[in-house]
Amino acid sequence: MPAGSAVTCRLFEAEDLPALFAVEEVCFPPSVRFSRALTRSLTIDPHCHTWIGIVDNIRAGFAMVGLRGEDEPTTAYIWTIEVLPAFRRMGVATSLLECAVVSAREAGCAAIALHVDEKNQNAIALYERAGFVQTGIDFEFYGHGQNALCYRRDLSAGR
Ligand SMILES: CC(C)(COP(=O)(O)OP(=O)(O)OC[C@H]1O[C@@H](n2cnc3c(N)ncnc32)[C@H](O)[C@@H]1OP(=O)(O)O)[C@@H](O)C(=O)NCCC(=O)NCCS
Repeated sequence: MPAGSAVTCRLFEAEDLPALFAVEEVCFPPSVRFSRALTRSLTIDPHCHTWIGIVDNIRAGFAMVGLRGEDEPTTAYIWTIEVLPAFRRMGVATSLLECAVVSAREAGCAAIALHVDEKNQNAIALYERAGFVQTGIDFEFYGHGQNALCYRRDLSAGR
């Protein structure tokens, strides 16, 4: 990271939406990309927090955390976390993850869960470093032959 560059995070504001679309288009191929409608609906869902990661006044990435699971009301769910290539390995995703954890704790959640493509070694490394543990596998979650690993972090402990 260039000297003086620091990662800050804040909650989503309506004017961030075009930047979110741009990050999504850079970070994921069309086959697994969130639709703009889904992205937009999550940003206005009162039970979802969207955190924006900022470096040098640029929206470098974002994370979305659902605060009320359908099956498990006290388990938060990371919908997505994504960072522009130019800003990777600077701790942006780690900062966003910690903000998601704060949101989940403040909402009274006992755990935070997520899916990750079994081939996405970078994201798997990120999550394991942040204290998430694998709890299972959802076959073909992302489409034919594209399995997802299920990860979870218990929030009842201190970390
Ligand atoms: C995965 C992703 C979000 C990581 O973002 P990031 O801001 O670069 O992550 P961080 O800088 O916070 O990295 C934290 C740790 O994760 C691991 N990690 C992240 N990227 C890695 C890579 N390319 N290779 C190896 N380890 C990596 C490392 O342990 C890293 O710590 P270190 O830099 O001290 O070694 C980013 O690569 C990305 O946006 N990828 C495309 C979208 C995506 O796959 N999102 C996840 C969907 S489940």
